[in-house]
Amino acid sequence: MLEVKNVTRMFGQKAAVDNISFAIDGPAFVGIIGRSGAGKSTFLRMMNRLTDASSGSILVEGRDVLALKGAEARAWQSQCAMIFQQFNLVPRMDVASNVLHGILNRRSTLQTMFNLWSEADILKALEILGRLGIAEQAPKRAEALSGGQQQRVAIARALMQDPKIILADEPIASLDPMNAQVVMDTLKRINVEDGRMVIANLHTLDTARRYCDRVIGMRDGRIVFDGTPDQLSTGVARDIYGADESFNESATSTAIPADRRPDEAYAGAMLA
Ligand SMILES: Nc1ncnc2c1ncn2[C@@H]1O[C@H](COP(=O)(O)OP(=O)(O)O)[C@@H](O)[C@H]1O
Ligand SMILES: [Mg+2]
Repeated sequence: MLEVKNVTRMFGQKAAVDNISFAIDGPAFVGIIGRSGAGKSTFLRMMNRLTDASSGSILVEGRDVLALKGAEARAWQSQCAMIFQQFNLVPRMDVASNVLHGILNRRSTLQTMFNLWSEADILKALEILGRLGIAEQAPKRAEALSGGQQQRVAIARALMQDPKIILADEPIASLDPMNAQVVMDTLKRINVEDGRMVIANLHTLDTARRYCDRVIGMRDGRIVFDGTPDQLSTGVARDIYGADESFNESATSTAIPADRRPDEAYAGAMLA
């Protein structure tokens, strides 16, 4: 279904993503792990066409999505909805409108200007919010919600587009463990119940082990591991993250110190 072939992204002389290839059949839940700067976000951004690849192709049902232009590229973007660490909601707008914004690109400028949503779209937004357990939040401003609720609103906005693939860039890196679990459970449900492929950049190994069917480990832009969670041994983790003095095999906690940037929390390596 998805075939990544020799994809490279250069920034100046540096390859942020260096000739990576892999294929995913069917609606798997795939985790991409690796330390900060490994190229995880750059890869997702290329898939979603937020940034261009320097070379290579990504075939989805035989079509190279990296070669799409204009309206076709935009149509592809709604087929692979993106979830971000910082939710990217409009903070002062109500939750239901934030969800409806998932289909902004299907509407005319006038409809958007006058905030005219069809009744069917509004009902669909409310139904999705209900499914994710946050229907009662619909009239509230997004900024009034907890982080875990906001990320579920972002997932609801993504579902509004009815995407084939959900790309999530460190979706739980800003959340406490309890909210993190609710959000990961939500992504897993969407994967299993709807058959949508999920590709998530994850910053802890135990999350990858717990939720993913398949884990891809990146280091310095390259794939250094591609396998199942049970193949993710301590030795493999050390290959992926690199053995520096902050690598701590015995770390078992999933809590992220609030004063550390989530990307840097790889260092504890969260080896369960
Ligand atoms: N817009 C950019 N300009 C220059 N370098 C970038 C840009 N975006 C990412 N990089 C570099 O590409 C590499 C991979 O970054 P990124 O994909 O963000 O890694 P990760 O998400 O795994 O932390 C890093 O060395 C980063 O500094
Ligand atoms: Mg990143």
